[in-house]
Parts: sequence; structure tokens; C-alpha cells
Amino acid sequence: MTKKDPKTLRSARWFAPDDLRSFGHRSRMMQLGYGEEDFRDRPVIGVLNTWSELNTCHSHFRERVKDVKRGITQAGGFGVEMPSLSVDESFTKPSSMLYRNMLAMETEEMIRSHPLDGVVLMGGCDKTTPGLVMGAISAGVPMIYLPAGPMLRGNYAGKILGSGSDAWKYWDERRAGNISDEEWLGVQGGIARSAGTCMTMGTASTMTAIADAMGLTLPGASSIPAVDSGHQRMSAACGRRIVDMVWEDLTPDRIITDAACRNAAIVAMATGCSTNAVVHLIAMARRAGVNMQLEDLDGLGRTTPLIANVRPSGKDYLMEDFYYAGGLRALMKQIEEMLDTSALTVTGKSMGENLEGAEVYNDDVIRPLSNPVYHEGSLAVLKGNLCPSGAVIKPAACDPKFYNHEGPALVFDSYPEMKKAVDDETLDITPDHVMVLRNAGPQGGPGFPEWGMLPIPKALIKQGHRDMLRISDARMSGTSYGACVLHVSPEAHVGGPLALLKTGDTVRLDLANRRLDMLVDEAELDARRKALTPPEPRFERGYGWMFLQHVTQADQGCDFDFLQSDFGRTAGEPDI
Ligand code: FES
Ligand code: MG
Repeated sequence: MTKKDPKTLRSARWFAPDDLRSFGHRSRMMQLGYGEEDFRDRPVIGVLNTWSELNTCHSHFRERVKDVKRGITQAGGFGVEMPSLSVDESFTKPSSMLYRNMLAMETEEMIRSHPLDGVVLMGGCDKTTPGLVMGAISAGVPMIYLPAGPMLRGNYAGKILGSGSDAWKYWDERRAGNISDEEWLGVQGGIARSAGTCMTMGTASTMTAIADAMGLTLPGASSIPAVDSGHQRMSAACGRRIVDMVWEDLTPDRIITDAACRNAAIVAMATGCSTNAVVHLIAMARRAGVNMQLEDLDGLGRTTPLIANVRPSGKDYLMEDFYYAGGLRALMKQIEEMLDTSALTVTGKSMGENLEGAEVYNDDVIRPLSNPVYHEGSLAVLKGNLCPSGAVIKPAACDPKFYNHEGPALVFDSYPEMKKAVDDETLDITPDHVMVLRNAGPQGGPGFPEWGMLPIPKALIKQGHRDMLRISDARMSGTSYGACVLHVSPEAHVGGPLALLKTGDTVRLDLANRRLDMLVDEAELDARRKALTPPEPRFERGYGWMFLQHVTQADQGCDFDFLQSDFGRTAGEPDI
């Protein structure tokens, strides 16, 4: 490799000139206790740490950052930890999705405005991966992604518990009166028992796998459990590698190409990915100038078999098992022929070189192509008069009897209204009904909450039903399952046709033809459209107001319009 001249380091703009401003920068570094030999002529690496005491999935990051800095120092760089907005999934209301773009903006601007030559991005809990990556793509300095890693398997009373998925399952049993208070407390304490992200193939594991498959992590890093000592070693290796990436000028635009985005989408499908991946993948790709569309993802969904037997789409296993079975490198090796293995990665090598020697150690967890969990990929994109710009469904996670379904709609305008109805044991509903929740999209939610796995009404639970067709303009947790149509676009709040649907109208899902329609004639729909009154905006000041002005719809990735790569010229380097 040709090593760049230290005089051309970005940080040299701050530290090298013999002028008063640079004197100030150097003097302030000395105030921190560093000598010139610490920070001059060396890559300055920002370690963007999304640790917080309220981010349960990143609780080990306070320690891991030391490993990262150890690696940076070993390789001759200078590491600085920079606390970053910690968008946690566990507590953020109304939805962490409201803040993904805030993290992306913060990441971009903090990199741009500081003397950084490269960055290590420490994230993992759902929105932190796309938020950090989107911002760093726009900032354009070399970056490496350090995934938090999944937590250990859940355990209670000899049973293995999976994040999210088992919470819903046990909750349904509790609502049916089958679980005592004591057992419920046992599940509560056993389902999340170590640092790390949700250990099902939920949004966190999907998004870190996507970062891995895009070539943004060390190979296979996304599968290492958070509390495994290998995770510490990987963290130090990230520190060492980013220093070399700076010398090699290995910037994100060289890595995140059409091929890398396509690889990431294929891998997502093969893992049984969270529906949220659709929104984030589109947003990340577009930051890199790759115009990924919903249709591209549907196409890959039709041709990619689901081979990771990990819950919720798979039957039996969790992320810890996936790691022991060989992890993401082994999965990618299985589908190597479908990937563009020439894609460049943070290692400076091609994806194909990174996969050399990868092996599957348990072919029930990572299945061969001849015995997939599900023959098609995990996602399907629907169009129709209910969702002209698209909607998504995860066929692998729903009862096949709903693949072709027609039934009367039961429509709710708000979450509280829906919640009241599902708890009413006398609700007049049949298993053929189609439950609909609207005003839960990017603007209506607000912030696109994970309300899309509408609870099965108690009246049906008591009769033994555990699935039914549900439609919303919301998202759902990646750990959810069931016949849920999500991300209906345009959303009802901005006047999408979902706003025209009435209780009693017939709704038809035809999965084979990727259609979702309401069987209501055009003249009637026209009359209803004319009678619509626009709803009140959800925010009238602050960040929420800005969000409503600029957020794009689900099919466009929900980035802010002004942050997309084609919006306008990006600011150059600060002049003074
Ligand atoms: Fe953080 Fe699930 S709550 S990954
Ligand atoms: Mg989640």
C-alpha cells in the first residue's frame, strides 16, 4: 500500500499551520495532557461511542472503548472518544425512529467540524447502525463499524427465551390466563440477561449483518456475542485497522457501491431480516448515491432463500447459536455465488478474500441452499389501491393461510382506540377480519412507531387464534411475527388511500401477485377523498416540527429530504 504523506492528513489542517488558530488547537491538546508527539503527524481517530446508562444494549461500550483506543495506539494513531446520541430502543418514546436522523446529522456534523482523520462507529441497538453509518457516509472520512454484538440467549425455568419474540408469545399466554405472576416475573428477569443487542434476528442483528455484508465491519464481526472475549479482541482490531485505513485513504465511497448495497440486501434476505431493514437500507444506500428502490428488494426477496434458522423467521435458534455455527461469514459463504465477491471492504481486501476458509459448523442453524428454512427471501413488497407507493410483509413469519386472503376491515384511527378494542372480550370479530391501524406512519405516529404487530383481540385469543391479517402504516419490531402488512405508503396522515378505508369494506391480500387492495369502487373512493379533512400536525415546534417538514415516506427511506445525497452540494472542508 502507498501510505499518504502525514502532511496531507485532515487533522493537519488543525494542528500543523504556524498561525494563531492552530496555536490554539495545539495548546488545547496540551491542556488535555498530550504532547505534540501524541497528536502531530498521526491519524486522529474519533471513536463515536453511543454508550448511555439508558442504552441497555450498549452497556459494555464503556469498557470496549478502551480496547478500541488500545488498538489505535498500537497502530500509531491517536484515539479520541466522542460520546454520541444514544438512540436506545428500550425506552425511547414515541419511537426511536424519530431520532435516527438526528443521530445521522450529529454524526456527520461532529466529524466534519473536528480534526478527525477517521472514525470508529460504536453502535448496534436498532437505529444506531443506520444513524451512524448514514452520517459517516455523508461526512466521507474513512470509517469502520464496531457492532455491539448480540446478548446471550435468554433463559427461564429451563426454557430458552428470545428477545421480543418470546415476550409477545408469553404475553398472549398471560392474556389467555395461562401464566401466573411468578412465572411472568421469571420471564421478565430471564429474557435479557447480558449486555448486547436483541439476540433474535431482529432489527439490531439484521442491521449489523447488513453493515458487515456491506464491508463496513471486520469480517464476521456482527455475529460475535457482546460479552465474548472475542468481542474485546475485535474491538482492538477495529482500532488498529482504522489507522491503516486512514493511511490508505480507504473512504466509504470506495466501499459502499451498488454491489455492496446489493450484497447487503441479499444477505439480509438470507438471514430472515427485520422489515425495518427495508427502510434503513434504502436510506443508507441513497446517502452513498446508490438509488435503491423497494422493487429491487422485492426482486431479491423472490430469489434469495432464507437459510438462517434463527427466530423469529427461523424456528429454533438464536444469535449465540448462529455465532457458534460459523456466523455471518459462514452464511455468506453458503450464498457466495449470489454475491458480488469483488466488492471492496474495510479490510482493504475483497469480500471474496474475506470469506476464504469460512465454514458452517452446524447445518441446522445455517442451512445449505438445498434445505432452506424458506424458499423465497424474507420480505415481499406489495402494491395496490391501499398502498400505491408500497407496503411490506414478511411471509416467512406469517401463517400461510393468509397469503391469499379476503376479509372485512376493522379500522382504528389511533393506538388507544385499537388497544381498547383488543382488550374487549365481547368485541364482534372473526378470524377472517382484517385489523387496520392508521395514522401510525412517519408523520402520523409520529416518528413511525413499531405498532404494526397489532395484538390479536382477546375475543380471538380465547378461541385459540394466534394470527390474523393486520395492516398499518406503522413499522413493527424486527422480533415480531405474524401476518402483518406494514409501512403502507403514502401513510394515512398525509392523505394516503389508507385514510379512505372504512370498517366493513372488503380488503384483499394476494401475495403471489404482490397486491393489497380495498374492494371499493372508484366513485365511492373519490367521494370519500373529497370529504377528508387534513389532520392536525403532531408537532408545532422544535425537532419534531423539523422532522415533519422534511421526513420522506417509508418507501423513500424516511431520511430528511435535505440530507439525501442529491439535495445539493455538500459543504467542503472548513476554511478557517
Ligand atoms: Fe437494543 Fe433490541 S433493544 S437491540
Ligand atoms: Mg427492535
